Amino acid sequence: MAKEIKTIGVLTSGGDAPGMNAAIRAVVRTALARGIKVKGIKKGYQGLLNEEIIDMEASSVSDIIQRGGTILGTARCLEFKTKEGQQKGAEICRKHGIDGIVVIGGDGSYRGAQALSRNGINTIGLPGTIDLDISCTEYTIGFDTAVNTAMQAIDKVKDTSSSHERCSIIEVMGRDAGYIALWCGIANGAEDILIPEKYDFNEQNIINNIIESRKKGKTHHIIINAEGIGHSVSMAKRIEAATGIETRATILGYMQRGGCPSAKDRYYASIMGAYAVDILISGKTNRVVGYQHGEFVDFDIEDALNMTKTINEYEFEVSRILSL
Ligand code: ADP
Ligand code: F6P
Repeated sequence: MAKEIKTIGVLTSGGDAPGMNAAIRAVVRTALARGIKVKGIKKGYQGLLNEEIIDMEASSVSDIIQRGGTILGTARCLEFKTKEGQQKGAEICRKHGIDGIVVIGGDGSYRGAQALSRNGINTIGLPGTIDLDISCTEYTIGFDTAVNTAMQAIDKVKDTSSSHERCSIIEVMGRDAGYIALWCGIANGAEDILIPEKYDFNEQNIINNIIESRKKGKTHHIIINAEGIGHSVSMAKRIEAATGIETRATILGYMQRGGCPSAKDRYYASIMGAYAVDILISGKTNRVVGYQHGEFVDFDIEDALNMTKTINEYEFEVSRILSL
């Protein structure tokens, strides 16, 4: 029989994402409702190693569900990638009476959670990243808000691009994944969508598209470029030189990671936070929570990390058809 959980820790790790606060709030309030104490660990694994640990009450998470970022702070921590760092982290948990931890972050953060679990601390991961690049889940906390933020910004760039009859390359976030770019590409009606999973690095195709769309009378040409491809500024210069059409690059950057979370991010993050606490209490450890086929589910961390996901072929094809 698994040891009874009396105190749960919660931390956010890796890049922040809108909705992380809703998840923290749900972890804290669900645990308290189940008679379990909660400790907030500040600044991810770095804060754990530095023992930046605070008691959390129901009021500690008042008025945060609508706020972007993470009230606990986040960090990247190299020391936690070492065995010594991981053992030290588990020792610190024991010292503070923490029997289980909810880690909100991406794949890298899950590896840290796995290490804590190997060292005797029960762990549950929640998918927190704007990139949507976690294979075991169709939903990640922050993606919905980020894609809406990017979409609204791109609408604005499109207005001025049309007025000036320019071509615009707009770079959106996504370290290795093109989900934000694909979604914006469709939602903004972009003429070209460049994502790392599909791009063939043949700029001549883009140049031909621009020339063709001008012939059809289009006054703008919007290219959504994923961060994983990057180089938007130099690409704009080359395209302008080849087409004779004024071309500007806009890199949306970190504004996509901030701002108040959408209803979807608040709702899903809340359910996931509660779910994480409830499976910890039920004796599960080394699991991550996901959303698949309309349901909240959980997987073994190792299995989750071994899963792969790719851009849906049909959705990508539709994005090409609609951009004609
Ligand atoms: P994300 O969680 O968004 O993927 P990172 O990959 O930067 O972000 O990981 C966040 C943190 O998780 C890292 O700074 C490190 O502290 C921890 N981490 C990443 N990889 C490992 C690993 N292999 N073992 C232990 N901890 C890791
Ligand atoms: O993983 C989320 C993300 O915003 C990526 O899209 C981006 O490449 C990365 O984080 C940027 O991380 P940092 O905050 O370290 O610059």
